[in-house]
Amino acid sequence: MTNRQDMTLTSSGFYVSQEAPIEARNPTPTPASTPPDVLRCAYMELVVTDLAASRQFYVDVLGLYVTEEDDEAIYLRSTEEFIHHNLVLRKGPIAAVAAFSYRVRAAEDLDRAVAFYTELGCDVRRNPDGFVKGIGDSVRVVDPLGFPYEFFHQTDHVERMSWRYDLHIPGELVRLDHFNQVTPDVPRAVKFMQDLGFRVTEDIQDEEGTVYAAWMRRKPTVHDTAMTGGDGPRMHHVCFATHEKHNILAICDKLGALRRSDAIERGPGRHGVSNAFYLYLRDPDGHRVEVYTQDYYTGDPDNPVITWDVHDNQRRDWWGNPVVPSWYTDASLVLDLDGNPQPVVARTDDSEMAVTIGADGFSYTRPEDETMPEWKQGEYKLGHQL
Ligand SMILES: [Fe+2]
Repeated sequence: MTNRQDMTLTSSGFYVSQEAPIEARNPTPTPASTPPDVLRCAYMELVVTDLAASRQFYVDVLGLYVTEEDDEAIYLRSTEEFIHHNLVLRKGPIAAVAAFSYRVRAAEDLDRAVAFYTELGCDVRRNPDGFVKGIGDSVRVVDPLGFPYEFFHQTDHVERMSWRYDLHIPGELVRLDHFNQVTPDVPRAVKFMQDLGFRVTEDIQDEEGTVYAAWMRRKPTVHDTAMTGGDGPRMHHVCFATHEKHNILAICDKLGALRRSDAIERGPGRHGVSNAFYLYLRDPDGHRVEVYTQDYYTGDPDNPVITWDVHDNQRRDWWGNPVVPSWYTDASLVLDLDGNPQPVVARTDDSEMAVTIGADGFSYTRPEDETMPEWKQGEYKLGHQL
């Protein structure tokens, strides 16, 4: 657990250490089976209630490319993608997530996924023909944290649209970057993801060692997924990357011009965590989509782990802009393998919103200043707004 004596305080105001300074009080058992070799987050299967409205948002506004579509589902990809899709929009009665899908290195990794999750007593199903179009032999599981995952290797290749500048838009989404999951017990989730071969890159803690969020990766960026403390299992957001900051500003301008500014939930801004430039949108069902660019390389084995103080008001926005309450409270349901919503379990550890923007919460710009200027407090404390 947190021991700040074992961390190095940087001149930027956060701490670094060598190994993830997180210990689970209630860990999942570590399987004896070798985990599958996960390459990267590959796609999300999202259930939407109005396929036409979702198509309008993801294709007409955000510019994702349609690989294939029918009356039931739309398969979308980003500019640089060569696999069949990064997002499946499937029509259904309840807006939810059907699968967080990861690509694995080789076909044998599917056998490993079956053994790994079977040993944990999870619901494990394999479909040699794939669960969705464009994807071959796949394994779907509900993990010990209640999230539906898919693992696959075989997929149809499609054209990379990087060279098709004639089709690009100012807010071009070039890659799927990461998922973000809401779970009540972040240390337990981190331990499980470490067993699956993920490494922590950053986290948010308080001095008592309560962990509010953690970012973990397989590919050499800041993350493939993050675990955010809250009532869960739920999906916090799915994130696409742009090449540059100005692409994100162009999305804001376009939404304004379309009189759809209400789709913008938070940002644009610069994250402290990950150092990325960001924007959070809500789709027609309320699913949260992040657009993000310019995080950093993390592929060395001794990549330093960054720990942020939960009271540092620059951790989630480097410019110190406050986080809107809906960003902490709202998230999408996730489904089991039969399509039923997973029950949501309440977080019992302290809530990040309560300790930072709640009536008694506090945030600092400089750690020695326990109170903000009066004029700034209105942005941070509930009840201080006009
Ligand atoms: Fe994110």
